[in-house]
Amino acid sequence: MSHLTSIAAVARNGVIGADGDMVWNIPEDFKHFKRTTMGHPMIMGRTTFEGMGALPGRRSIVVTRSPEYVPNLTKGDDVVVVHSLDEALEEVAGEDAFVVGGAQIYEAAMDEVTHLLISEIPLEPEGDAHFPTIDPKHWRESDRDPRDGFTVVTYERREA
Ligand SMILES: NC(=O)c1ccc[n+]([C@@H]2O[C@H](COP(=O)([O-])OP(=O)(O)OC[C@H]3O[C@@H](n4cnc5c(N)ncnc54)[C@H](OP(=O)(O)O)[C@@H]3O)[C@@H](O)[C@H]2O)c1
Repeated sequence: MSHLTSIAAVARNGVIGADGDMVWNIPEDFKHFKRTTMGHPMIMGRTTFEGMGALPGRRSIVVTRSPEYVPNLTKGDDVVVVHSLDEALEEVAGEDAFVVGGAQIYEAAMDEVTHLLISEIPLEPEGDAHFPTIDPKHWRESDRDPRDGFTVVTYERREA
């Protein structure tokens, strides 16, 4: 079965961003994100897409409610615009894919994803975007991998 994984960097207080942007700059975590997602489709909200743009080597599936939305693209960008999470899920059916945020899209996808890959960031910054609560009733921690300045934790959905 293919995996659908939410990948996020999450502070101790659940913050993932502020004012549409990230609130830390941890190059090692960006490298981890790049290595992990390379070659796989990524589902993201329109706000997150506008913050980071199209990333090379990965198809971006951008979710917006706006029927007129036209992304700002340059030649070679691999971007598909969809208008619901269901449509995004259809786009990646049968592939190992990632949900890459932001807060609204992580929340909407929480019942759909099979895995969570969380970079725990040892900070408590102010912010207005948060990762959803990870309920241990539904999620089992299956791996904890300390890195330089953060820890990558894998969760698998518990069998119903
Ligand atoms: N730390 C991390 O790992 C990480 C990762 C990614 C993002 N972030 C942070 O997260 C923040 C952005 O998160 P956000 O929640 O504000 O925005 P977001 O989830 O990236 O995008 C929100 C937009 O997605 C569209 N949307 C949301 N739900 C939808 C649905 N059910 N159907 C159709 N379209 C839907 C809407 O677009 P329209 O308005 O166009 O309709 C909505 O305005 C930023 O601060 C960013 O830096 C952090």
